[in-house]
Amino acid sequence: MRILFVTSEAFPLIKTGGLADVSGSLPAALQTLDADVRILIPGYPAVLEKLVNPKFLTTISNLPNIGSINLIQGEMPETKVPVIAIESTGLYQRDGGPYVDATGKEWEDNPTRFGTLSLVAAILSNEQSPLKDWIPEITHCNDWQSGLTPAFMHFMSAARTQMKQAKSVLSIHNLAFQGCYHADWVARLGLPAESYQMNGLEYYGQLSFLKAGVFYADGLSTVSPTYAKEIQTEAYGFGMQGLLKARGKEIHGILNGLDTNEWNPATDPYLAAHYDVKKITGKQAVKADLQAKLKLNIDAKAPLLGVVSRLTHQKGLDMLLACAETIINGNDCQLAVLGSGETAFEEGFCDLAMRFPGKVSVTIGYNEALSHQIMAGCDIFIMPSRFEPCGLNQMYGLRYGTPPVVTNTGGLADSVQDSNDESIKDKSATGFVMPKATPEELLSATERALRYYRDEKTWEEIQKNGMRQQLDWTKSAQAYMTMYEGFLKK
Ligand code: ADP
Ligand code: GLC
Repeated sequence: MRILFVTSEAFPLIKTGGLADVSGSLPAALQTLDADVRILIPGYPAVLEKLVNPKFLTTISNLPNIGSINLIQGEMPETKVPVIAIESTGLYQRDGGPYVDATGKEWEDNPTRFGTLSLVAAILSNEQSPLKDWIPEITHCNDWQSGLTPAFMHFMSAARTQMKQAKSVLSIHNLAFQGCYHADWVARLGLPAESYQMNGLEYYGQLSFLKAGVFYADGLSTVSPTYAKEIQTEAYGFGMQGLLKARGKEIHGILNGLDTNEWNPATDPYLAAHYDVKKITGKQAVKADLQAKLKLNIDAKAPLLGVVSRLTHQKGLDMLLACAETIINGNDCQLAVLGSGETAFEEGFCDLAMRFPGKVSVTIGYNEALSHQIMAGCDIFIMPSRFEPCGLNQMYGLRYGTPPVVTNTGGLADSVQDSNDESIKDKSATGFVMPKATPEELLSATERALRYYRDEKTWEEIQKNGMRQQLDWTKSAQAYMTMYEGFLKK
């Protein structure tokens, strides 16, 4: 099966969050199931630098706002999955992040930058494609950045009814980001004026890339079974629940897998020592190394709580700020935070670190190595998200013997089993689930975790139950294949 996997980030080429982890590892897993997958991605400087064996493929001209772009084909480092990068000096050759500039401001031309990604994907998805020898059967789009692809594909096939074209699939990784822009962009991106209506591209008076995808895609999926249900409700639907409910039966909820080579405590090159489920003692050395690195008191007995996160409302870390002092004072524990995001959160955590020298360490920024070290060196991972489509960090926590404290939502609910007498007895306990997202519940769940932590034998059982979970892509990649096959039969 030929699959074009369209994404705005893919690890290790470029990463801002979990979408990159999935885009790096899912195509590789599909490849092991004999799928012929190619990733389509904007050619940011980091992408063009890291691409292995890059070769010029072709030029596509007459694109709205930008004229021509080049397609460069190369491979992912390590997995060797083929990658097609869109090279355009005007669109992607610049410093800063994929979505924002160095000051955190959204690039003003994002509609063109991701409109072009979407349009190029659509151009490559039918028999008129300039890549004549490779036409996908499935075009798998991800999030709003490639949300216009199914719309472009729809208009192209409406114009030429006999044309052979791929089936389009949209995976929603986070409904909170919808790519909404002024209605002028409909014409500026070459979309038909009549498509700007409720049954089309219009979303509360704007053009929405994500809505376009949800409306026009042949198939929809999201990254956990619970989130697939949640997004059809007002509480989690971000205004799109009506449309999502109308397509409800078609939404496949498939839990993300992990790249278990990249995230493996037995081999992780970022760690000072290694360990596995059979011999977990190396984790103590990683903890001591982390405490030293972060200038925390080197104390094997002090429970160390960890956070690696975007610092945004979604991640619920204001709840941790509200109860951190009580937790630290009452339990003689430590906290290591790595993240960046909204100023109020960054300042809140920096203030906490100043008030608790030796006990709280806060690193603002993005740091791949430290994220692995926190995951491995901490005792308990804190992730009180208000909503979480899937979440990868809680699963990294499970794999690294760092039981997570999580809210009962989305992929957190689908991947973490609360610890209680019964679940400890039947060896299913892997973490601590808060029934509600409040500071009080976070305090109570964390203190519950700390009580178990003091009971060494039970704690090790909880750690090992988590480490034994099968979190790789085997099952979920198969579920994607079955889903694609279903679309092709339609
Ligand atoms: P989301 O994509 O919503 O941010 P996920 O849990 O799915 O949440 O994925 C987050 C990914 O980004 C993980 O791989 C995590 O380790 C990584 N990450 C988040 N913040 C940082 C950071 N400050 N430094 C390094 N890695 C980070
Ligand atoms: C999004 C979600 C996160 C998910 C990731 C990968 O960033 O916020 O929950 O794990 O996408 O699917």
